[in-house]
Amino acid sequence: MRTEYCDTCGNGGQRSTPFEISAGEEHQLNDSQLYARINEMRIDVFTLFPTMFLGPLQESILKRAQERGALTLLLHQIRDYAFDRHQMTDDVPYGGGHGMLMKPEPIFRAIRTIVGPEQIPIVLLSPQGRTFNQEIAQELASEPRLALICGHYEGVDERVRRHLVTQELSIGDYVLTGGELAAMVVIDAIARLIPGVLGASDGAQADSHALGMLEGPQYTRPATYAGWDVPGVLRSGNHAAVARWQRRMALRRTLERRPELIEDADLSPEDLALIAELEQELSEPDEA
Ligand code: ADE
Repeated sequence: MRTEYCDTCGNGGQRSTPFEISAGEEHQLNDSQLYARINEMRIDVFTLFPTMFLGPLQESILKRAQERGALTLLLHQIRDYAFDRHQMTDDVPYGGGHGMLMKPEPIFRAIRTIVGPEQIPIVLLSPQGRTFNQEIAQELASEPRLALICGHYEGVDERVRRHLVTQELSIGDYVLTGGELAAMVVIDAIARLIPGVLGASDGAQADSHALGMLEGPQYTRPATYAGWDVPGVLRSGNHAAVARWQRRMALRRTLERRPELIEDADLSPEDLALIAELEQELSEPDEA
């Protein structure tokens, strides 16, 4: 166990509550990893459970993005801004109802202390929000700074929603125990779109969804595994044939799994011809 301090947190500098990390030696973080310097994009996360973020945000691409200074992630404990004797962050709902609601004051105070008057997107993660998708990830990735508030308990006081947050996002039609995992999903999807984060590759551009289409099947070595062969065309060295096959398979997969994406996709005359052919093929019963 060791203790980290977020030096920007606290009551206008009068107090800084310890931010505790309880982790094995191998997971312990140094200050530059935890609070990397601001560069391309800064995301401030407001949560009652900051330690939930430490594993996922310290691995792989997100780790590299922070080390390179492309992304700065700052975790803020909402409880540090609850100034009553018991540092209460939740209370019973007016009018009755089950469960507890997050109180407004600590959340307003935390945002006002850390964000100040700057006009940045303040996002509340909740199951009532707009459903997050690649387009929203792209929109948010173009911002220099974001604040994410993780809702908990049975919800948050409506005044947070009405007078503080600029948008509310859900990651899908299911209810999580809190907004933390949703915030991590949003951070991950945004971070990989920040220029430089995926290195020299243009992976983010070629992804499923980035082009409004699913990717077709892909293979790597060995050429034969357990008797299953990689399609011959991919090993033919004929680049035009490979590109045609890949496009055809992407269209096919999209038609089979997400036909609604085809309607909005950017399609060439060749694509339209391929789609007509695929529709014919898919409507024919399998020859046994
Ligand atoms: N909090 C609880 N469930 C959620 C969801 N589906 N998306 C975002 N935040 C949430």
